[in-house]
Amino acid sequence: MPRLLALFLLLLSAANTAFGAQPSARVTADFNKGWKFYLGDEAGAKESAFDDAAWRKLTLPHDWSIEGKFDEKNPAKPEGGGLPTGIGWYRKTFTLPATAGRNVFVEFDGVYKHSEVWLNGHSLGYRPNGYISFRYELTPYLRPAGQPNVLAVRVDNSAQPDSRWYTGSGIYRNVRLVTTHQVAVDEWGTFVSTPAVSAQAATVAAVTQLRNATGKPQTVTLQTVLLDASGKEIVRQLTTSVKLSGATTTVSQKLTLKNPQLWSVTKPYLYRVKTTVLTGRTIEDEYETPLGIRTCVFDSQKGFLLNGQPLRIQGVNQHHDLGALGAAFNVRAAERQLQILRAMGCNAIRMSHNPPAPQLLDLCDRMGFLVMDEAFDMWQKKKNGQDYHLDFKQWHQRDLEDQIRRDRNHPSVFIWSIGNEIREQFDSTGTRLARELTATVKRLDPTRPVTSALTEQEPAKNFISQANVLDVLSFNYKHADYPKLPTSFPGQHFLATEIAAAYETRGHYDLPSDSLRIWPKDGKTKLTTGNSDFTASSYDQAAPYWGATHEAAWWGVKNSPFISGAFVWSGFDYLGEPLPYPWPARSSYFGLIDLAGFPKDAYYLYQSEWTNQPVLHLLPHWNWRPGQTVDVWVYYSQADEVELFLNGKSLGTKKKGADDLHVMWRVPYVPGTLQAISRRAGKTVLTSTVKTAGPAAKIELTADRSQLQANGKDLSFVTVRVLDAAGNLVPDAANLVKFSVSGPGFIAGVDNGYQASMESFKAPERKTYNGMALAIIQTMEKGGAITLRADAEGPTSATVTLQSQP
Ligand code: GAL
Repeated sequence: MPRLLALFLLLLSAANTAFGAQPSARVTADFNKGWKFYLGDEAGAKESAFDDAAWRKLTLPHDWSIEGKFDEKNPAKPEGGGLPTGIGWYRKTFTLPATAGRNVFVEFDGVYKHSEVWLNGHSLGYRPNGYISFRYELTPYLRPAGQPNVLAVRVDNSAQPDSRWYTGSGIYRNVRLVTTHQVAVDEWGTFVSTPAVSAQAATVAAVTQLRNATGKPQTVTLQTVLLDASGKEIVRQLTTSVKLSGATTTVSQKLTLKNPQLWSVTKPYLYRVKTTVLTGRTIEDEYETPLGIRTCVFDSQKGFLLNGQPLRIQGVNQHHDLGALGAAFNVRAAERQLQILRAMGCNAIRMSHNPPAPQLLDLCDRMGFLVMDEAFDMWQKKKNGQDYHLDFKQWHQRDLEDQIRRDRNHPSVFIWSIGNEIREQFDSTGTRLARELTATVKRLDPTRPVTSALTEQEPAKNFISQANVLDVLSFNYKHADYPKLPTSFPGQHFLATEIAAAYETRGHYDLPSDSLRIWPKDGKTKLTTGNSDFTASSYDQAAPYWGATHEAAWWGVKNSPFISGAFVWSGFDYLGEPLPYPWPARSSYFGLIDLAGFPKDAYYLYQSEWTNQPVLHLLPHWNWRPGQTVDVWVYYSQADEVELFLNGKSLGTKKKGADDLHVMWRVPYVPGTLQAISRRAGKTVLTSTVKTAGPAAKIELTADRSQLQANGKDLSFVTVRVLDAAGNLVPDAANLVKFSVSGPGFIAGVDNGYQASMESFKAPERKTYNGMALAIIQTMEKGGAITLRADAEGPTSATVTLQSQP
């Protein structure tokens, strides 16, 4: 019988490809369009009869905070980005075709926060956690075919302050409408893992949870097919006569695959698992799960091994905002961040400190990034008065379970973190909760290690490590104490979840470069009296007392082979947490890349350490006061030495010593041309030049992509630079640039990376900061040429034209 059925299915799938498929059993539709929005509270807006004609029309994902005005008095405080929060309502009116015998669900990837959803006036549920994904079933309250339904969402982000960083407010991630048969794969109902992997074969374990909403027992066949990256079938498994008696039934299957292609950070090979549920010959559901076959092992001697090979974790921490776009998720914006990080040699992301957008994990699967998927920034003990500690008791179990079930099929996710710098570390509740949370994770995913980002390196004082349940002990900062770890925690595995937290403002330099700026200098000093223009030096010389310069921090990791690698705090600058500065500083200084996406100098330090490509990065700019003594730094790699020339005259050749990560010359400034040449065995490897710039003469626009998709979502990031007549960047140019767009595109955001700018991210203009700015162009659903024009007083205008393809 199974063999006959298999033959039938094979014919059916052949027929589907040959003659066009019958309407799919599962229909997943983008539900982002056609929403109405109102900023404020509206009694009665949950009722379908409510009149929302005057409300604003918009497309999700949407973050209303990023559209607001900066104000020190905003309740989220500068720590939260200094933007407005409050209460907002969303409504969507829609009609559906006949749904008899079907179940209809709405899926939210994330709503910040305290959301309640109603369909036609019936409450579907409430969800306090702003980072968690959830779905509600609409079926019982849907109106008959063709009649309008109204989905209403109230979002309450008014209780502040609730976060140590910018959160955004609203339905800031994607929404989908999913229709299934009454017998279907349940929500996040597959778990695919590879319990045995060798070069010759891999065992794939597929556990499928089936949902039966018919109210009657059913008998189904479950077919699981493994497809390779090109969609070709590799192997299948049929389980017939599966009895669905209760609401859900779990089926376990095993498949064996010969000569598996492994998933790695350099070759992220992805298989797909296609699950088909059948009653007789009727397809009840078809559902796909990504599969990457890889082994991840932490070894107390060798560190981390991916597919049996040692791999140093070269990671960064990333918060969820996308700079000028705020928290509103956009796949291209996230992909661009990952591309910039990859070019630096980064191979891992810590999703600090909450579940990310699911499409970000898809990108990490595809692009080959390892992910630490983190659940919480606090448990019962607060970090801010209105934060998740208020909901922890009632919701943490559900939130953690949902995160694990949603994310456990991503090959990129290599470790779970149950929390960041949790206050319970310092008393016995930490032991109890660490045990409870770890048990929850292991019950749903026994295949991956669990960690928590700790600060206390003394075992006697650390009640979370004392729980003895963490597979990996992760520590934030305090690299000077790393050497004690192997004796303090014998036989354990270690990761550095945060290093550095050094400050930089792109293009700004404080001299002399070798004087350290420890801001704040200790736990008693709150904010600093640092630079009056709220800048921090890009010479890698400023950090808080708990952090360190990038060089010192990275040395700490390099010299500790028992640590599997590190996550730099942070990859990109993010909104909020403007340490060490008070208002008007409103975004962070910690990034290796500024908020606009422009690398700071320390980016090249890591690039020289983390990649095998030759690097030669010369800093600073060459516009100083005559006679000033300027420190010239060079980060380099794949070379023996670097020679520096000023106006053609050699200033000497330098080599990094055993403990150095850069070389430096102290140079009396004269205007002209500074040039660095790196050499290996006497041969030039790279040359880098910086020239004294004259007055601003022209604007230059450079688009990161000029071929775009006319899907209403695609983005082009256009870099604006102010140049002198000879084409040199004017390193202190602060020109107000006015943008205008013609064609089917619009400005989604503008920025310049300056942490204390009070300009709007949504305005059609931006002042350049240290010579640079950014305009983000978004496509519409109509194709055509999009032209961005940039005008400023003084420098000549520029245009760039992009093609948007339908
Ligand atoms: C850590 C914390 C991060 C961030 C960082 C700044 O203690 O885990 O979220 O606040 O400090 O240095």
